Amino acid sequence: MRNDTVITPQAILRQDYVAPGYWVDTVEMGFDLGLKSTLVANRMVMRRNHASTEKDLVLSGESLKLVQLRLNGVKLKKADYQIDGETLRIPNAPDEVTLEITTQIQPSKNTSLSGLYASKGNLITQCEAEGFRKITWFPDRPDVMAKYTVMLRADKKKFPVLLSNGNLIDEGDLDDGRHFAKWEDPFKKPSYLFALVAGTLVCQEEKFKLKSGRKALLQVWVEEGNLDKTQHAMDSLKKSIRWDEERFGLELDLDRFMIVATGDFNMGAMENKGLNIFNTKYVLANSSIATDIDYAGIESVVGHEYFHNWTGNRVTCRDWFQLSLKEGLTVFRDQEFSADLVGTTTGRAVKRIEDVRVLRQVQFSEDAGPMAHPVRPDSFVEINNFYTVTIYEKGAEVVRMYYTLLGHDDFRKGMDLYVERHDGQAVECDDFRAAMADSSGRDLTQFERWYSQAGTPRVSVVTAYDAEAQTYDIKLTQSCPTTPGQEKKLPFHIPVAMGLLDADGKDIPLYCDDYPAQAGATNLVIELTAASQTFRFNKVTSEPVPSLLRNFSAPVVLDIDYTDEELGLLLANDSDPFNRWEAGQRLATRRLVKLTKALQAGEELSIDDWFINALRNTLNDESLDPAFRELMLTLPSEAMIAEAFDVVDPQAIHTARQFVRATITRHLKADLLHVYETHQTPGKYRPDAVSMAKRSLKNLALSYLLEWADESTFDLGYVQFKEAANMTDRLAALAALTNFNGTEKQKKKSEKALRRFFKDFKKEDLVIDKWFMLQATAHTTDVEKVRELMQHPAFTLTNPNRARSLVFNFCNANPSQFHAPDGSGYALWAELVIALNKINPQVAARLARSLDRWKKYPVGLQAQMKAALQKVSATKKLSKDVAEVVSKALA
Ligand code: ARG
Ligand code: ZN
Repeated sequence: MRNDTVITPQAILRQDYVAPGYWVDTVEMGFDLGLKSTLVANRMVMRRNHASTEKDLVLSGESLKLVQLRLNGVKLKKADYQIDGETLRIPNAPDEVTLEITTQIQPSKNTSLSGLYASKGNLITQCEAEGFRKITWFPDRPDVMAKYTVMLRADKKKFPVLLSNGNLIDEGDLDDGRHFAKWEDPFKKPSYLFALVAGTLVCQEEKFKLKSGRKALLQVWVEEGNLDKTQHAMDSLKKSIRWDEERFGLELDLDRFMIVATGDFNMGAMENKGLNIFNTKYVLANSSIATDIDYAGIESVVGHEYFHNWTGNRVTCRDWFQLSLKEGLTVFRDQEFSADLVGTTTGRAVKRIEDVRVLRQVQFSEDAGPMAHPVRPDSFVEINNFYTVTIYEKGAEVVRMYYTLLGHDDFRKGMDLYVERHDGQAVECDDFRAAMADSSGRDLTQFERWYSQAGTPRVSVVTAYDAEAQTYDIKLTQSCPTTPGQEKKLPFHIPVAMGLLDADGKDIPLYCDDYPAQAGATNLVIELTAASQTFRFNKVTSEPVPSLLRNFSAPVVLDIDYTDEELGLLLANDSDPFNRWEAGQRLATRRLVKLTKALQAGEELSIDDWFINALRNTLNDESLDPAFRELMLTLPSEAMIAEAFDVVDPQAIHTARQFVRATITRHLKADLLHVYETHQTPGKYRPDAVSMAKRSLKNLALSYLLEWADESTFDLGYVQFKEAANMTDRLAALAALTNFNGTEKQKKKSEKALRRFFKDFKKEDLVIDKWFMLQATAHTTDVEKVRELMQHPAFTLTNPNRARSLVFNFCNANPSQFHAPDGSGYALWAELVIALNKINPQVAARLARSLDRWKKYPVGLQAQMKAALQKVSATKKLSKDVAEVVSKALA
């Protein structure tokens, strides 16, 4: 692929940044709200930015009907301004301008769920990234920060609740059954943080005392009938507020903080100032509808959005190329929040492993595909396509590397300096790096490459032991593959946390020439900055086993040739729990790759007893946290195994993995049963770390037990399904039953269980999403079955959660079926991308990415994927969103 020839439609370039021609000081808005039609009056006080090269007054707008436009009290005539597509330009405007704009919009026709839209009779906004321009003409860019006052008027019966950012300063009744609420946000903010919610909602509320003694009103707003599902979100919010006070010294700056849940939402949630809007998936929970994973997800997303109040809102982004400035940092903060709440060393490691799994499986794959982009991209066509795992998760890894390099205290100093310097400003990633460098005195010049260069670096390791001199040399060599538009890469600044194990698996004291100050430490962060570098360790009395990249200290691939015995030593002994897990994954991957190749060659499959025994020891090691054992016993996913191949054979990978799972069960049945029985959590459901860990290990055991057809184990699953006292256990059992490869009678029973589940939960949208998800990812669900499920009355493409539950899960998480040799999966994909394109471009573009890696498949599949991509690409009225994704895939 020649990358410099990639041409994408109307790309916006980072280097073209021009400061806004006008600043906006205040915005006063008046809304006359209605589902079919809403009238928006907007009065902006603006002033020329003399430092800008832009002389015109420039506004953005989309799908707006312009009713009136007045400048300094005078109605503008057609000749006074120009509208060109989404730009309204007023030349020769004076330095001081009061602009009054009235627009009319149609929320119920807005299926894009961006801007102001209708959801079950309520009105909701989503303005990030560029949704505010669908509400009024505005300099809709994050570096324009203004103070907002918002007057909401609506029918009191249909819209009894009227919310916006900041503080409620007035409310009352109007004529004709209408009422109003007036809101004032005391902080200046970019337009993407604007929000309003109007409709029939109820709330759980509480006064919460802040560190300074001030009290804040906390509210969680949901649809009627859902007040039995808000406690966990409220608890999570309170924990978030406390945590940010304690860990970063950052206090809530408002008297009122609201969370609103909606079932129609494109993403997870949104940090609008004082009025966070959430997907119901990240708010609603009780033991009968939510799993342990849902509880954890809610806690981290509530934290994430709350933490944005400082990292994102008080200090925001200059332009959208800097998105990771707020997202990478805020993901790092929410990861630390979750880890701190668990508290224990293994608890932290479990969280770290879960995060790294996502990074490797999704972000490494993105970094190796046609949409690869730096953490701070240089160009985009549609910014919504850049809310990616690279911006979020790799961005968080970049922030974590500062933490690793600087240490806890200096990192905190850097954060303090960053907030102090830039409060109330819209800044760049470089400003964050500068704050970290200035507060610690460290040279972080080279570190900049983590922002500018895309691709996952590889670090290869060669070691040499000299018994006579008692020296041990570790030679690290880094490289980074070509990515679109970036042919050559320069070396990264890579922190490699490491230790050396002796033959008993004990850490030995480290005496590295380059780090004299840390002599004798057993854990060292060595810094790889050159293309190749050798680190010498002295006083090494016998050849050690290196434990490198502990706690996954950098987002790189580590190429190192370990023997099985060395991995066994690390697996059983490494003082770094992440690397214990890593050793197990390496052992498993090695076997899974070999078995996949054996299948392709038509050879007999077998697994060595040594590996099975290593798993047995881990499974039965009562000294290990059950959550950690669950991770150790979970095989790399099919997507992860695929990364080890140049050409991916999804069916062979699936068969190989299933073979290993069945073999494990065959050998460890008694052990698994024992674990299953001894990790029950009777009594009231509690989403605490200890009970969650037990359930996760117990349910992993169950899924293994049902891997190997047997009458008694089937019944185990069936009984758990019927008698489960919480959704975690119920769903785990149903998943195992659905994938059970048993007799006809057992299949009938599994189907009955699925029907029963649907009936019991048909009023709970989030549970019905699980019902679709479970079937979408079942081994036996083929394209035809998905088409059948799409006909189910409960299925709809217009709701993103529902579309994701069936369609996205099938295309992204059921590879052996999606990549059916006849190409039927791709045909379905193309149909659905085209259908979604008309409804919701953002959601369509996400689905469009399922074929990103098409060049990694055998030529036969490639041709069919290419044809499907071309079919989408040739569609009339293709959104920018989808066009960008498919054109990059085809480039
Ligand atoms: N800032 C939000 C968050 O990370 C995500 C908003 C994404 N919105 C979008 N239209 N892409 O919490
Ligand atoms: Zn965020």
